[in-house]
Amino acid sequence: MTTTTPKKPKDAATAPGTGAARGRPAAGPDPVTQDRLPAPKNSSRTLLFSLLRPHRGKVALGALLLLTQQAAVQAVPLLVAYAIDSGVPALRDDDSGPLTAVAIAYVICALGAGLLQFTFIRVAARINQSILLELRGRIYRHAQALSLDFHDRFTSGRLISRSTSDVQSLRELLNEGLQELLIILVSIVYIGALLFYLDVGLGLGALLSFIPLYFLVRNYRRRAAERFARKSTAIAAVIVKFAETLNGIRPVKAFRREKANDEAFGALNRRHELVNADTNLEMGRFVVLSRLIASTAVAGIVLWGAHRVTAGAMEIGALAAGALYIRRLYDPLDRFAMMLNNYQSAGASLDKISGLLYQRPDVPEPERPVELPPRPEALPGREVVFDDVRFAYRTGGEVLPRFRLTLAAGETTALVGATGAGKSTLAKLLARFYDPTEGRVLMDGTDLRELTTAELRRGVVMVTQEAFLFSGTVAENIAIGRPDASRDAIERAAKAIGAHDFIASLPAGYDTDVRKRGGRISAGQRQLVAFARVLLADPAVVLLDEATSSLDIPGEKAVQDAMVTVLRGRTALLIAHRLSTVEIADRVLVMEGGRIVEDGPPAELIAGTGRFSDLHRAWRESLA
Ligand SMILES: Nc1ncnc2c1ncn2[C@@H]1O[C@H](COP(=O)(O)OP(=O)(O)O)[C@@H](O)[C@H]1O
Ligand SMILES: [Mg+2]
Repeated sequence: MTTTTPKKPKDAATAPGTGAARGRPAAGPDPVTQDRLPAPKNSSRTLLFSLLRPHRGKVALGALLLLTQQAAVQAVPLLVAYAIDSGVPALRDDDSGPLTAVAIAYVICALGAGLLQFTFIRVAARINQSILLELRGRIYRHAQALSLDFHDRFTSGRLISRSTSDVQSLRELLNEGLQELLIILVSIVYIGALLFYLDVGLGLGALLSFIPLYFLVRNYRRRAAERFARKSTAIAAVIVKFAETLNGIRPVKAFRREKANDEAFGALNRRHELVNADTNLEMGRFVVLSRLIASTAVAGIVLWGAHRVTAGAMEIGALAAGALYIRRLYDPLDRFAMMLNNYQSAGASLDKISGLLYQRPDVPEPERPVELPPRPEALPGREVVFDDVRFAYRTGGEVLPRFRLTLAAGETTALVGATGAGKSTLAKLLARFYDPTEGRVLMDGTDLRELTTAELRRGVVMVTQEAFLFSGTVAENIAIGRPDASRDAIERAAKAIGAHDFIASLPAGYDTDVRKRGGRISAGQRQLVAFARVLLADPAVVLLDEATSSLDIPGEKAVQDAMVTVLRGRTALLIAHRLSTVEIADRVLVMEGGRIVEDGPPAELIAGTGRFSDLHRAWRESLA
């Protein structure tokens, strides 16, 4: 192509109504290109509850187990107090009864606590497993359901990081953090009550020490929250870079980008390490300060207790129990800091996941879908009308100014024009990858927005240059658009396209695994598989977007024949780089800056004096 066109039309001319018509944000940073997607404040909590709700029975059971288990655990120091204050004096009077009773109770408590904890861990693990399973499934389904418009802006690396590192930090919270946090909270309540029971002064002392602890925790949480958001963004950046490099490994090799990539990746990796070190420092600070508070409290309380004992107001056994309880009270503080970390990082991840799940597809399913009338055998094509359509991508200005275009049923239309003219955009509107900003796209008089996904898929198929093959067999790949097709139908389609011979010569014929991206199959053969796929799917409208432009000339003859077979009788839009392909079209459209500037049968345009005739002459000369 040698046409040169000014890029997009001026924004000023299209500004009124560009965004307002559909409530789009007019300017400013695009929220979707940022890591955290906008969502209502309570959406994380809503998500968590919606995940827990199906398991509420098990959650209640877990809570009951936990409460009982902690009661058994916290009874032990009381038993010690009883042994010292009542058991030992009784033994002096030759009564071994109380001490034996204490020993038996001790064993029962220890055993019971162990068994209860075991059951609790199992119940909690079950809940966690199903929550994570469900969450990963939801992310996958949702990512698939979101429109291209979303995927244009939100990279696949970010999506991968959502379902890997973000789900992982939730896993850590659920598997370790949350259980321990609950245990600590329950034990604090129990211990506090028991301390008051032993001695009001002990209880008050412990309570008092919680005031500075409260402020310390609050301060730590605030500082850590901000660091965790940074940390989770930093790890996401590492994953995004990794995924991007591997997705584009061919251009990376072709342009020798390895070294530059290494440097960029190294920088991201180091940044993650730095942020990580920073959060660890914060945790260290917390641990030191909390230990200081805890040991001051222990010293104070023991001093007070000793004083009470000498004054005869407290038994020595009660003091021993009190000391044991106080140790148990402050011991978990270190782990508490760790858990807060888990909790924060999981909170940041949950925010991101719920932000993603909150996104709605821009191309929604119709509420009251309409069915298209059946097509006559003889004419599988359908009429297509672009009815006063205007289109702008969410980011950037108007690509297609308002236009009307009718493609007659069964007609093959070639669309040519410079790169960036808007050809692919027009095709994508017809495939309903996007909805028009204004106006309607009609198929046999029905707005595409009123068709179900299934009907739309039967209606329109788009083939691009990439001819993507999914992992699976060749047969499965041909049957993508009609998974219930018989082997016979698959082979018939392949034969009609002229792909049967090469498929039959593959190691396992139709059952050959193509591996990812069809590693073992050449570009031309991949293209044939893609055409066989279309023929089997039997759509009314076929869109070929530069479908053959990656092929070399010898392969092309077979592909050209296959193309004729695929297009026969269908309504077809053929976006072509090579003018040789254009010759099979009934009609040619020339596009410039989103406008159709020429329209007519190929022979007529070639004979004329317009753009297409210039192009065609230049092309003929290049062949000579
Ligand atoms: N996903 C997208 N988001 C924003 N702008 C886009 C997107 N895809 C294409 N564009 C812009 O729309 C214009 C038309 O692109 P396209 O339809 O791909 O042209 P063609 O297929 O004729 O080369 C170009 O200016 C391009 O930059
Ligand atoms: Mg294009």
